[in-house]
Amino acid sequence: MAVYLDHAATTPMLPVARDAMIDALDVVGNSSSIHSAGQNARRMLEEAREAIAGSLGCDPIEVVFTSGGTESVNLAIKGMFWARSAAGAGRRILVPRGEHHATIDTVEWLERTEGAIVEWLPTDELGRVSLEATESALSAHHDVALVTTLMASNEVGTIQPVEGVVRLATRAGVPVHADAIGAYRHLPIDFSSSGLTALSVSAHKIGGPLGIGALVVSRTAAIEPLIHGGGQQRKVRSGTQDVPAAVAFSAAARHPTMPLTGLRDRLIAGVQSAVPSAVLRGDPIDRLDNNAHFTFPGCEGDSLLYLLDAAGVCVSTGSACQAGIPEASHVLLAMGLTEAEARGALRMTLGVASTDADVDTLLSALPAAYDRAVRAGLSTRVSAL
Ligand SMILES: Cc1ncc(COP(=O)(O)O)c(C=O)c1O
Repeated sequence: MAVYLDHAATTPMLPVARDAMIDALDVVGNSSSIHSAGQNARRMLEEAREAIAGSLGCDPIEVVFTSGGTESVNLAIKGMFWARSAAGAGRRILVPRGEHHATIDTVEWLERTEGAIVEWLPTDELGRVSLEATESALSAHHDVALVTTLMASNEVGTIQPVEGVVRLATRAGVPVHADAIGAYRHLPIDFSSSGLTALSVSAHKIGGPLGIGALVVSRTAAIEPLIHGGGQQRKVRSGTQDVPAAVAFSAAARHPTMPLTGLRDRLIAGVQSAVPSAVLRGDPIDRLDNNAHFTFPGCEGDSLLYLLDAAGVCVSTGSACQAGIPEASHVLLAMGLTEAEARGALRMTLGVASTDADVDTLLSALPAAYDRAVRAGLSTRVSAL
């Protein structure tokens, strides 16, 4: 069996979540029906919502189930933009440069089609959004509809100064959405005291099933729905709710977490001694407990990925490739890396079932894979082509 070190992409379902889902699949009833079967489904759904709310420090009524992280982010950004701009608050969206494509593609779509003005906030060499730039954008412009930010970088693992962003935005009367999809169950989250207006999470990143996520929407938030229909979930997201998926999501949300910091640090130290020229990217201290991200000079991250895969180890370059063509990561470029440096990126992410033996297998395969990847060299393709 291959060693799996790509838990930030998706992590296996926890046995408790899988068992809960299988049991719930046998239950008949639309949770909106008023007969007893419907009410039973409704009870299961609301218990699941309560458990998820408990894991996020919010009220159950604030949890809106979606189809996953991408939908949550779309609903938050488009929904808040439409509601705020309709109320005359303005059309500007402040976005750090190192966001996930769920955010980037959403704000670019709003810019192209809905008249949004997108203002990109710089990140520092560790991938952390600049609070100074956030503050000056908020004081220079009085037409800011919202600020959106990652809670932690899904690519380089850097924990973002969300508290600082919220403090500045709240002073300016601007709502903030946080993409907590990579941070959920790795960092403490207390929505009610955070000052956030909305927060996105996804079940398959925490040992729940694929196909369900949630957007936490504060009771007082103004948000336009993306999906119209039966008016479920405070009319924020219509559609019959997926009870078995919600039940399984809640089982994962309830499952105790344990810090992965020790194994991560062993992995980082091991990579540094196996390939001394490899450079750890992201914040060395304030980083997700499951993330190790490196750039390897003189090679393509994709070559390394394929060679490690052939040696039985699944890792990631951390960034999407466009139509099968490796692109230098926008996150690394925003951190000031050159395109050549950025092309040698590799992200290794741990999950609850990761072991010392997994890390050892990676470390023993890495030197030979790196030598071969360097011999294959950097592709001469120019990114603009
Ligand atoms: C930070 C972040 N945002 C959004 C997403 C999209 O979530 P989903 O895969 O549930 O659609 C991901 C998934 O990789 C992510 O890591």
